[in-house]
Amino acid sequence: MLTQNRIQKIWIPSKDDKPAVSRGTTGAPHLANPPTVIVMVGLPARGKTYMSKKLTRYLNWIGMPTKVFNVGEYRREAVKNYSSYDFFKADNESAVKIRQQCALAALRDVESYLTEEGGQVAVFDATNTTRERRDMILDFGSENGFKIFFIESVCDDPSVIATNIMEVKVSCPDYQDCNKTDAMEDFHKRIECYRVHYEPLDPDQYDRSLSFIKVIDVGRRFLVNRIQDHVQSKIVYYLMNIHVQPRVIYLCRHGESMHNLQGRLGGDSGLSPRGRKFSGALSTFVKEQNLTDLKVWTNQMCCSIQTAESLGVPYEQWKALNEIDAGVCEEMTYDEVKEKYPEEFALRDQDKYYYRYPTGESYQDLVQRVEPVIMELERQENVLVICHQAVMRCLLAYFLDKSAEEMPYLKCPLHTGQLYVL
Ligand code: F6P
Repeated sequence: MLTQNRIQKIWIPSKDDKPAVSRGTTGAPHLANPPTVIVMVGLPARGKTYMSKKLTRYLNWIGMPTKVFNVGEYRREAVKNYSSYDFFKADNESAVKIRQQCALAALRDVESYLTEEGGQVAVFDATNTTRERRDMILDFGSENGFKIFFIESVCDDPSVIATNIMEVKVSCPDYQDCNKTDAMEDFHKRIECYRVHYEPLDPDQYDRSLSFIKVIDVGRRFLVNRIQDHVQSKIVYYLMNIHVQPRVIYLCRHGESMHNLQGRLGGDSGLSPRGRKFSGALSTFVKEQNLTDLKVWTNQMCCSIQTAESLGVPYEQWKALNEIDAGVCEEMTYDEVKEKYPEEFALRDQDKYYYRYPTGESYQDLVQRVEPVIMELERQENVLVICHQAVMRCLLAYFLDKSAEEMPYLKCPLHTGQLYVL
């Protein structure tokens, strides 16, 4: 017997009313894929932690529960007072033991996350620069039935490395009692300790059967080997789109529309007088920012296009940015929905992220729809996005790393913008 899940409006083979597919930590969709362990590889200061965090944010946002396990944090917990790079010398036997124990402790946590806590992807963030260490992780993967995917960051550009050390490493807890020059020098020596034993992934011989991507010179080139499944292709797709150039992203709702004035959902009305005033103010603001090559994106709805028109600059329209489709509730006020569809009104309140309007959409649907926009935003530099409330919440949730539960309640009032500096 099939029953319809009232929140998601999908057919499920039971009378259970719980969502069949969950984006949270419990009961996540496992599809055809067993859990995946992403293993970072590379010398210190190659952006591994940056990539780990960013990729994790993306995977969580698209609905794959993902968590980073940073071995450096386990090491800092085990050894409270870091003294110098001596700790990382290969002949420092006691330190080698501690580092090995920290890696094993992190792997134990990876195992619990993927087997007991509903995780689908774990990112094992460490240098993993030796074959011995990687073979140990591969054994761990086969014992537990996890797929292993390596991401190696290769970069020999001294200016990129120096910037990374300056921006991230000298301010890390290891160097809290140290001046910047000494920290910089110590960190370079730490890198040398790893370089002596570094065995990069070898696509031609030793590692040819493994699944991995080599990210070369911060994304200028890539080498991709043996992609096994959808998750891995998603990871590759994401890594090939991101960049590290500084830029600004502005997110803002259209000026107030006639439907907003009446408190009506959806529809396609034009700007109210107050909305037109806002468009003028937005135009002044944009000019004042004096940003080179600012791209302006809107959806295909009247009030957003009117808002963009007043800027007097070229803009692009994305259908994917159109507002959530409220289905049978389109153009009604919330009070009218409550009166005409009391059950639907209550269901939406129960689970706003998964709730799908009859013949309309849910926030979960929106995430799928706006994913290509996120990917293009990642590729771009300065962008102003003019859209509607629910879509703006989806975009914001991605940038601010907000959960599915928080997303539908993020505050995006009319006539205020959100700035995201990367
Ligand atoms: O009220 C403006 C609006 O953009 C509607 O078109 C849309 O249905 C609604 O906001 C989305 O907000 P919520 O998910 O809180 O109902």
